[in-house]
Parts: sequence; structure tokens; C-alpha cells
Amino acid sequence: MKKKIAVLPGDGIGREIASGAAAVLQAAGKRFGHEFEIEYADIGGAAIDAHNTPLPESTLGLARNSDAVLLGAVGGPKWDNLPSAERPERGLLAIRKELGLFANLRPIPSFQKLVQSSPLKPEIAENVNMLIVRELTGGLYFGKPSERRGENNEVVVDTLQYTRAEIERIVVKAFEFAAGRGGKLTSVDKANVLESSRMWREIVNEKASDYPSVTVDHMYVDAAAMKLISSPGQFDVIVTENLFGDILSDEASMITGSLGMLPSASLSESGFGLYEPVHGSAPDIAGQNKANPLAMILSAALMLKYSFNMREEGEAIERAVQSVLNDGYCTPDLQMEGSTVVGTDKMIELVTQRVANGSDVLTDTIVYM
Ligand code: IPM
Ligand code: MG
Repeated sequence: MKKKIAVLPGDGIGREIASGAAAVLQAAGKRFGHEFEIEYADIGGAAIDAHNTPLPESTLGLARNSDAVLLGAVGGPKWDNLPSAERPERGLLAIRKELGLFANLRPIPSFQKLVQSSPLKPEIAENVNMLIVRELTGGLYFGKPSERRGENNEVVVDTLQYTRAEIERIVVKAFEFAAGRGGKLTSVDKANVLESSRMWREIVNEKASDYPSVTVDHMYVDAAAMKLISSPGQFDVIVTENLFGDILSDEASMITGSLGMLPSASLSESGFGLYEPVHGSAPDIAGQNKANPLAMILSAALMLKYSFNMREEGEAIERAVQSVLNDGYCTPDLQMEGSTVVGTDKMIELVTQRVANGSDVLTDTIVYM
């Protein structure tokens, strides 16, 4: 097959890891006989510097003309003092909105080899396999007005707005995933306080009758934050509002030991996908060959599986990652007793080699979605 992939490295460590993921994709293409045409474009701070806007038309056009998008991360201290409408993050929010990527899927499995690097006790961190389904194009991130008002700008307003249709489509997506996985859906809200959450809950209960095989429960977001640490093993699929999902997914990453391990997929109604690591641009370690490229590489694997229906190819990448970890290699964020700590470049090379020559034979694959 022939596929066109837009790669948007963004800023900070995004630049180091995006090229690494592209190398891994090319290795998979070569091994399995596909042609991946990769084209790079700017987003975020890099785009502000080069084009005066965090999401240039040319970048959006390239994304629309590609079969899928791979994105690094955006933001950094250089652009922190810009007004919020001009910040790098605005480019990320705009591409999500423009491409209609309402469903953000953040799978969180425990990696057997990394259980020791989790700050949680091993018996809590092991055997977790959850999927956070985060609504990505509505809610508090996009509600209008979002502004400062009053004579001295002493009043601030952000708006949490959803339409019924927006909630329905994300809830249905979550039910579909739950039906195909462990059959359990936890809807996370703040229905004891927020009207938006009360409608969210109603819709979840309405849709439940279409999915008799799925057990549904509702949890307040504060309680969910606690349960993610005390008993993460109880979760299968979590569905939640944009900001709640942002916060809970960073928290849940600690089950795997590092935010550097979590990939994500953002899908539109037509199934178009953008793939990006859950982590940010980590300016503190950028350019030092310290970043963990695995979340980005695993995002590329999700792209193969979910956008191109290349299951075997995607799993070959996932197995290569597992086998490198199982051999004791890790980046500084995952440091454990007895491990061999390697830099970004070396980690990319190890995974690329194993994808290229097929030395990724493993029995345990990551069950992702
Ligand atoms: C994420 C990030 C973004 C978000 C930021 C960079 C705008 O934290 O993808 O989780 O809040 O969505
Ligand atoms: Mg986040």
C-alpha cells in the first residue's frame, strides 16, 4: 500500500522524537512492502517563528491531503508570554478542531518490565489495561466566551459548553470500545455540581440500552482521580469531558512509570486520525538526547493499526518496543535497577533495527484498544 503521512514535529522534544518515529515507520514500510511518503510541516512555536501563526494554512492543507497525521508536541518558554490566542498550544487546539478530531483515545496498559519504575506499589501498577476516551473538541477548552472582562479586566470567564450531539458521539464511541474490550464503561463527570455533567450522565444512561453487553458506572471526577491511584485495575474504558480527560490521563500515565510511554489517537467522525504522544514538549530536556521516544513511536504504531488497517505492521512496532524494554533498555525517565539507560537516539535505533529485521518475536503483545 501507498500512504501519505504528514509529520508535524512541533517544538522541544517533539523535534527529536518525531523524526525517530518516522524512521521506525519507514523501517516497517520496508519490511512489509508499503510505501510511506512522509512530508514535514511546522506547528506550534516553530510555526510562530517561521510563519507568524501557530497553525499555518499550509500545515492544515498538508494534513487534509494526507492519509494520517503524526504530531510531536508544542510549546516552550520562548512563547510563554504571548497572549493566549497566539500561543503554540492554540495551533494544536486549532488542528484538532479543524479536522473534527473529537475522540481522543489514550490507552494505558501496564508494561510488565516497567512495573518497578511506577511510583505506585507493584501490586497496584501491574495488570492495568485501561483506555481513556477523552472528548477533544468541546467543553471547557472551546466554550465561548473565554475572556477577561470588567473595567479593569478583573473578571475572568471560561465556558463549559456541549451540545447533545457532541456528547452523544463521544459516548457512543466509548461504548463501542467498551463492547470490544472488557465490557466495562466508567463515565467520569461532576454531576453533583455541573449541569453539563448532568446531561452527560443522562446520555450515557440512554445509550446504555444499545449496549447490553457493557456494564456502566458513573464516577465523579474527584473520586476517579483517587481511584486511578488506589485501584487502577478496576477500570476498562473511561469516557470523560475534555479537561477532565486531560488531567486524568497525565495522572494515569504514572501507572506505566512515565508520561513518556503513552501514545494517543485522535479520530474524526469519518475515521481520519491524528496520532500524538500524551506528553508535552518538555523544554527542560529538549535537545539533550534524554527524551523517551516510545510514546511517539507507539503513536505511529496506532496510526498503522487504526488509520491504515495494518494490524500486523503496527503490532510489529509494539512488539519491537516491548522487546527492547524486556532486554533492559530504557531512557532516563524510566531508570530502574539493573536497566541499561540509553539516550533518545539509541532507543530509536534499537526499535528501528528490531522493526527492520523482524527480531521482535514475543508472546506478550500490548493489548491496546
Ligand atoms: C494534551 C496537552 C494539550 C491539551 C496542551 C498542550 C494544549 O496537554 O494533549 O494533553 O491540553 O490538550
Ligand atoms: Mg495534557
